[in-house]
Amino acid sequence: MACMMIVGVATDARPRRLIELCGLPPAGLAGYSESAAWPLWLAPGAERGTFAGTVNEEFVNEDFEFALSADALRHSESFKWSHYPADVLPLWVADMDFAVAPSVLEKLHARLDQSIGYAPHAADCEFTRLLRAKLERQGLVDLPANGWIKYLGNVVSGLYATVMALTAPSDEVITFTPIYPPFLTAITDPGRVAKHVALAATPNGYQIDWKALEAAVTPATRLVLLCNPHNPTGRVWTRQELTRLAEFVERHRLWIITDELHADLTLDGTFTPFTAVASPAVRERTLTVTGPCKAYNTAGLGIGALISHSTTLNARVAKKTVGIAAHPSALAVTMWQATLEDDGAWLAAVLKQLRSNRDYLAAFVREKLPGVKYLGSEATYLAWLDYRSHPRAADIQQYLLKTAKVALNPGPHFGPGNEGFVRLNFATSRTILAEALDRLAAAHVPVA
Ligand SMILES: Cc1ncc(COP(=O)(O)O)c(C=O)c1O
Repeated sequence: MACMMIVGVATDARPRRLIELCGLPPAGLAGYSESAAWPLWLAPGAERGTFAGTVNEEFVNEDFEFALSADALRHSESFKWSHYPADVLPLWVADMDFAVAPSVLEKLHARLDQSIGYAPHAADCEFTRLLRAKLERQGLVDLPANGWIKYLGNVVSGLYATVMALTAPSDEVITFTPIYPPFLTAITDPGRVAKHVALAATPNGYQIDWKALEAAVTPATRLVLLCNPHNPTGRVWTRQELTRLAEFVERHRLWIITDELHADLTLDGTFTPFTAVASPAVRERTLTVTGPCKAYNTAGLGIGALISHSTTLNARVAKKTVGIAAHPSALAVTMWQATLEDDGAWLAAVLKQLRSNRDYLAAFVREKLPGVKYLGSEATYLAWLDYRSHPRAADIQQYLLKTAKVALNPGPHFGPGNEGFVRLNFATSRTILAEALDRLAAAHVPVA
């Protein structure tokens, strides 16, 4: 294992360059050549997961200026970094180890110098106008003038509210597994029945199993919960896939909620909002939930939005939240508006680092973790790793935590049939990622 000590000072909240490293090899294998072609694991003739670049001997420092050091990150206010002992590298909960965009921080600081009353977030305020313009640029168009948006304290409350508003106890709700765990609890907590449709792992990445989807529908099925792009596989659903899903929804007269929180973290390909391909009838049966917290690394502030072409549908769902779900905080509104006003340079730098980290991870898995499968991530900063061939597959997350001192999310949390999988969060400096991967390699038990 490479000996690497990460030093860095964390004295204030300002962005700073991550500084490494003592005894750095080049960390054994910590470097690779980025070839020009994308997607690297789809280089001509290559299967997904067979990254075409190589992990070479020369360390390439890919850390960008907003990547924070482990010292800066490990503080008691960080759930991600305080949950495990200090000798563990936490690549689990979906925060990024990056400083927040400078323009967003500036506006947050300035907001604290004003009175902190209720913030405006009505349909006609500047914030909502900016958000609408951004959604339109991404393809979410033809929204009505009013009643199309309801702000929430977070995105997950929108999932719960939708399930409760549109279904009755014992109704069935379809979702594609593996899936971000609150999709499952949003169905089962209020007494609905989850119908898990497992995604199919193919040489072209995870795909919807259309036969299994048809087979899952019964007279009790009411709703589909879609994650677009998909956490944890990182799939960006194509127009063709979404069109087929919209036809399915229409044919069975289902409701659909599409969680598009990761849209701005599209690394390759093009994000398509579900409603961009849905017929007018399906649009009337669709709710989109979204927010700024994944792309702008602001989950601790909490804010989300329910969006629909149908004002009655939006009102029906919003009614479920009245008096229960918090309105967004003033700081969260300031933050979201600031992300909409930002010049985009920070997000572009984040995406560059994420692509580079993903490619590095893919190369590393192929070369240094024999038997482990990674089908790539077209979006998000999450990697869904298949450790099923590992002798310790049954308790792989615990094994890696204890042996490698790397914290990942356990596959079974993402739905049934996911034993032997883990989710890895690669939104960190190259330094930390390389160290964590070195640890995984050192603890790896090669398979025949
Ligand atoms: C798809 C998806 N939806 C919702 C959330 C959580 O959003 P919030 O914290 O606003 O509830 C996450 C967090 O990772 C997510 O990946």
